[in-house]
Amino acid sequence: MEITTAISFKQQIKQGIPNELPSVKIYETDINHAPKRKEILTEEEKKLALQNALRYFKPEQHEVLAKEFLAELNDYGRIYMYRFRPDYEMKARPIKEYPGKCKQAKAIMLMIQNNLDYAVAQHPHELITYGGNGGVFSNWAQYLLTMKYLSEMTDKQTLVMYSGHPMGLFPSHKDAPRVVVTNGMMIPNYSQPDDWEKFNALGVTQYGQMTAGSYMYIGPQGIVHGTTITVLNGFRKIGKEPKGNLFVTSGLGGMSGAQPKAGNIAGCVTVCAEVNPKITQVRLDQGWIDEKITNLDELVARVNQAKENKETVSIAYLGNIVDVWEKFDQENVHIDLGSDQTSLHNPWAGGYYPADIAFEDANEMMANEPELFKEKVQETLRRHAKAINQHTAKGTYFFDYGNAFLLEASRAGADVMSENPTIGREFKYPSYVQDIMGPMCFDYGFGPFRWVCASGKPEDLAKTDAIACKVLEKLKKESPQEIQQQMDDNIQWIKGAQENKLVVGSQARILYADAEGRMKIAKAFNKAIKKGKIGTVVLGRDHHDVSGTDSPYRETSNIYDGSRFTADMAIHNVIGDSFRGATWVSIHNGGGVGWGEVINGGFGMVLDGSKDAGRRLESMLFWDVNNGIARRNWARNEGAIFAIERAMKSEPKLKVTVPNLVDDKLLANL
Ligand SMILES: NC(=O)c1ccc[n+]([C@@H]2O[C@H](COP(=O)([O-])OP(=O)(O)OC[C@H]3O[C@@H](n4cnc5c(N)ncnc54)[C@H](O)[C@@H]3O)[C@@H](O)[C@H]2O)c1
Repeated sequence: MEITTAISFKQQIKQGIPNELPSVKIYETDINHAPKRKEILTEEEKKLALQNALRYFKPEQHEVLAKEFLAELNDYGRIYMYRFRPDYEMKARPIKEYPGKCKQAKAIMLMIQNNLDYAVAQHPHELITYGGNGGVFSNWAQYLLTMKYLSEMTDKQTLVMYSGHPMGLFPSHKDAPRVVVTNGMMIPNYSQPDDWEKFNALGVTQYGQMTAGSYMYIGPQGIVHGTTITVLNGFRKIGKEPKGNLFVTSGLGGMSGAQPKAGNIAGCVTVCAEVNPKITQVRLDQGWIDEKITNLDELVARVNQAKENKETVSIAYLGNIVDVWEKFDQENVHIDLGSDQTSLHNPWAGGYYPADIAFEDANEMMANEPELFKEKVQETLRRHAKAINQHTAKGTYFFDYGNAFLLEASRAGADVMSENPTIGREFKYPSYVQDIMGPMCFDYGFGPFRWVCASGKPEDLAKTDAIACKVLEKLKKESPQEIQQQMDDNIQWIKGAQENKLVVGSQARILYADAEGRMKIAKAFNKAIKKGKIGTVVLGRDHHDVSGTDSPYRETSNIYDGSRFTADMAIHNVIGDSFRGATWVSIHNGGGVGWGEVINGGFGMVLDGSKDAGRRLESMLFWDVNNGIARRNWARNEGAIFAIERAMKSEPKLKVTVPNLVDDKLLANL
């Protein structure tokens, strides 16, 4: 008999790590599991990993667990402590079902469970939410202990999270964050991909991606909206209508799976290649892709037909993306918009599969012959870039989708460097932030604001959609010409959000908005909560935003003053959010593009209708967006100079240093 099943959900949360060993769990094969990680620890280091894992448990349990954990380490490359995976269903429950002494902590428990929900998480048993290695925790003991602490905490305590490990509850005060999260914060010289492999296997750090390790992932909806905005603006950029035109990309995973859906919302023909048959089937079953094709000749015929009939259709090609680019080149299938969303932030551990090797064989090679695997990946990257170059010579617009494609391709020696590089424009192709998201959205403060209705009621979500729409429509009337397009796109999105049936897991919504929009929407929610019209709301955002992330090839790739390799903005953001009223804050290494390549942070904020919540939201949201605008302004970005001047007019206490622009002719003549 399993010991934990006899007690209620609340009791299980409150007990944390059970006193008695729960029974061993079978390894369920119908679940999408993380690939076996590279063998990286020496025998001596394996002992250290075991010592580290066993410190969560009573000494009398060590003998049994030591053998079991060693087997996990040998079989999977990590100690996940599968035995301790709870028996209750992993999903966000209505907030009132959580045990605890403080509403803020209950909201955080809800968000943690949402990030591990089977419908949301990529590898739920390995506590990985998305991106192949984006973990909420490294093992189940950390999960159990964290939930226990949250169920005990009062609003005069703060839980300190060290890369998945709950260090403990520390005294603080009611305006302090309830949780402070760091993930993967390394001494800079120890921040290479193999350092992650090693220190994660030792159990002392983790890769939190962006929203996984900060409990703010809301399923692919978050990314569908951003991807739709990118595809729409991509077509605007090349002066074409999406109708009858072709978008080619790859990846049907955590975030990349949003591409075909976004293509359909935009109205184009989308071809998205994916090597993993399980993931492809999930997307087909979910209705996120319309058709699956496994043969390249068939694919060519179907795409030509779809273009001719101006169909809105998304087609998954089950196979390697390189084969698609090469075949379309041979057959002269014109690609209008091209990108890639394989997980190249994680190239050696399952993020990018080499061509001409069966999927399962590639997985074996990755674990058993890592050097050969690396060679094959690099060889494929060179082929991939070559095929893209053939297409762009014929007029395709290609952009890097922030997945480190150009960076890794360049490291592999592929032909992706610009012939006439300028600072910040070293590659042949722009990143989607350089040409699209940066100048059109981030510089004006528009970014992926989101909220979750903690009651779990769909009707609450519908009410919040209506409130947000009303606020935006009012704001649009008073908005300057410069941001009208953004306001229109977002009003259209929120009106259609319910039709798109994007809710997976918690009752969540994403909406791109600027500082003013975010503050006014949040204020209106807080008022509606106070009046009892809706329940508690959790606000947050993706780290992939105006201010939260310093990532030189992505979020800050359109910073051209040389400061894109600095991380002051992201650090300031998290510090500033934490003392202005965030309920939880997080700062990570590596989100999106990989360990060592980025510093990214975010927040969560609970609205309960109180005066305190009203005060906090104004103070924190204003800073959370305008910090980034101020920095983008200082980098001489035109849109940001406009936006910060507007912000200073709206808030006289804001005084930002504005750059003086130098006449180009003066420098040219020096
Ligand atoms: N969607 C966005 O707006 C966005 C923004 C910025 C960055 N990204 C980046 O996009 C990448 C993808 O994110 P994700 O969460 O979807 O990751 P993921 O690992 O869940 O999905 C990537 C998918 O690509 C597939 N794949 C790998 N190599 C392939 C190949 N050669 N051919 C075909 N398919 C292949 C994998 O099987 C996997 O399913 C990440 O690097 C992420 O940081 C996405």
